[in-house]
Formats: sequence, C-alpha cells, structure tokens
Amino acid sequence: MRIISIANQKGGCGKTTTAVNLAAALAANGRKVLLIDFDPQAHATVGLNIEAKKNIYHCLSKLTPQKAALEDIIVNVSINLDLAPSNIILTTIEQELANEIGRENRLQETLSAISNSNYDYAIIDCPPNLGILTVNAICASNEVIIPVEPSRFSVEGLGRLIDIINLIKERLEHRVDFKVLVTIFDSRLKYGFKILADLRNRFRESMFSTIIHVNVKLKESQSFGSSVFDFDKYSRGAKDYYSLSKEMIKTEAQGEPLKVKIQELIEEHLPKLAEITVKLNLPGAREVYVAGDFNNWRTDKDAAMADNHGSWIKSLRLEPGQQYRYRFIVDGKWITDPENPFQEKNPYGEFDSLLKI
Ligand SMILES: Nc1ncnc2c1ncn2[C@@H]1O[C@H](COP(=O)(O)OP(=O)(O)OP(=O)(O)O)[C@@H](O)[C@H]1O
Ligand SMILES: [Mg+2]
Repeated sequence: MRIISIANQKGGCGKTTTAVNLAAALAANGRKVLLIDFDPQAHATVGLNIEAKKNIYHCLSKLTPQKAALEDIIVNVSINLDLAPSNIILTTIEQELANEIGRENRLQETLSAISNSNYDYAIIDCPPNLGILTVNAICASNEVIIPVEPSRFSVEGLGRLIDIINLIKERLEHRVDFKVLVTIFDSRLKYGFKILADLRNRFRESMFSTIIHVNVKLKESQSFGSSVFDFDKYSRGAKDYYSLSKEMIKTEAQGEPLKVKIQELIEEHLPKLAEITVKLNLPGAREVYVAGDFNNWRTDKDAAMADNHGSWIKSLRLEPGQQYRYRFIVDGKWITDPENPFQEKNPYGEFDSLLKI
C-alpha cells in the first residue's frame, strides 16, 4: 500500500481538492483507495457528502470512551473508494498528544491495522498547519505531495515544510520523499509562468509534470458533494487529475500486488462532444434538475443542477449538429426555460425548450 500525505501549511492551495480527486482518479483506474480526512475542518468529508457517527479522532484518541478501530469508521464512497472521515473534534487530539511519548506515530499505528488489507493507496488530506496532525501524517507516509499555487506567498513557506520532511527522514530514520504539484494554475497570468519555471528549476524530478489548472468545475463539484469525475468527467479539472493519477501509476513499484483492472476511462475514449452549460436563475429553489433528449428525460442524480448562489447550472456534453429538447424540474414542477426563446409544443400541450448545438 502506498501511503501519501497531501500537505502544505498554506491554506487554500488545493490540498483537499487534490486528495479527493486524485483518490477518485486512482479508483477509476482500478486501484482500491482509502482517503483519510485528517483535517479537523473535515472538508473532504463534507465535500463528499458523508455524515458519520465516528471518525478518525475515535481511532487516534486513547481517552475517548467511543474508541474505534480504523475499519469501524471507514465509509464506502464509490467503487474502489473508501473514506475515513474527520470531524472538528479532531482538534482536541493536539492537546491529548501534547505530552505523549511517540505522539508522532499515532496515525502510523492506526494504519498498521490495514497494512495487510487490499488497499493499493491511502491518501491523507492534511490540515493547513505544521502541527502534530501533519507530522503524524508525514510519519505514516512514504510520499508527500505538496500542492503549490503559483504565487509568491505559497512558494515562501515551502522551505519550512521541506525542512520538516527532511527532519522526519533523518531523525526518525523514516523513508519519505516529497513531490511538488502545481495547482490552481491560471495561464492568463504572466507571473504564474515565471513561478512555474522557478519551481521546475528548483525541484526538477521532485515535481510532477502534470499541472492542475484553474477550473471552476473543481469548485462546483465540491459544493455538489462529489469528485469532479462524478460532476463533470469531461472538464479540464477531471482531465488534469486523471493525468496526475496516470503519473502516479507510472511510479508504482514493479511487482507491487495491485489488482489492476484498468478501465480505460476518460481521454482515450472521449467522443468529440461540445460542452454546453444550461443555467436557470432561481434563488428560491431547493432542488433543480434538467431533463431532455440527451438523458432520456431522466430526473435522477445525474440530472441534478448545481446551486451557485441561486443560479442553477449544469454542464452537458452534446453532439454538434444536433437539436435537443429539454425542460427544468424545479422542486418537482416541470417548467420551460424562461430565458430561451426557442420552444416547441410537446404532446402534453406544454412547451419544451430547444437547444441547437
Ligand atoms: N484547480 C482549481 N481551480 C479552481 N478552484 C480550485 C482549484 N483547486 C482548488 N480550488 C478551490 O480553492 C479553494 C481551496 O481549495 P482546497 O480546499 O482544495 O484547498 P486546501 O489547501 O485544502 O485548503 P485548506 O488549507 O483550508 O484545507 C476551494 O474552494 C476549491 O474549490
Ligand atoms: Mg483542505
């Protein structure tokens, strides 16, 4: 099992986005993945819509009367992907461990219970500080991915994190390597390229070739409660994280006991479709779906639209040259798109909206 921490004390540099979407991409490649939410903010847990009674705190703490084994808290998210959830209560572990001997190994001990399990990867989402939780995560890992958003401030803090990784390596004689991943890269900003070149120069092989670009679908999928692959698998964000997973897979040790059942997922088999976003401004609505010819008028979870501050959006991949009929379903009521003048009467005497691609 490869154990990988996603760490950087800088807040908002894409740790959770990377942890969730790399885990999902590896799972899509047939790897069995355990995502460990190790941040008391519990963004990965919330971002995957998981509510759990017990969480990683109950595995780590020796004081809680609700002590649990790792396998008791694990929740299945989707095929090949499990989650060890977190909760705000995890903040109390800092205090509990303050005077403990061997306190930096608590997560490693917890993970040893699943060392013989059939997980290929454990991915640990760290909090935005260099406290005892992050140190525990690094001590439990053999690899650290450091997401860096190319801005001056994110690059400045890197040295401290790398010092800590090296300290753990030397003092605790623990084999752990790190690799920098450029995230939230905005190709419209000139200085981003300059920082990218500096990082490549500084880190060379210790940096991923894959770059994660700015992509709004990554943000939207989080509020939608899923990975970007379940939200919009054709988006730039999905392609980037899929490519990162391929880069990770390339460095799997030969002979590692992986149950490789590669599903040739995205890029290779992408049909040449046009990406269209449908939108409905309706701040008061609780639940909005879009159904049409493109999804056989189904109103299941794949048809759900994302709420972006009262503007409901959904991106669709449609075949160019075709015309599609569609309607919105707002809190159970079917309506015609009020902003699309192109309509056609349907057999029920109502109007379907028309999309010509
Ligand atoms: N490539 C991207 N493009 C657009 N938005 C992104 C991208 N990566 C992350 N974001 C957004 O930036 C915000 C911060 O990302 P994220 O939560 O992954 O960072 P983090 O390092 O885990 O933050 P924290 O330090 O608070 O744990 C989120 O709103 C996320 O949706
Ligand atoms: Mg986070």
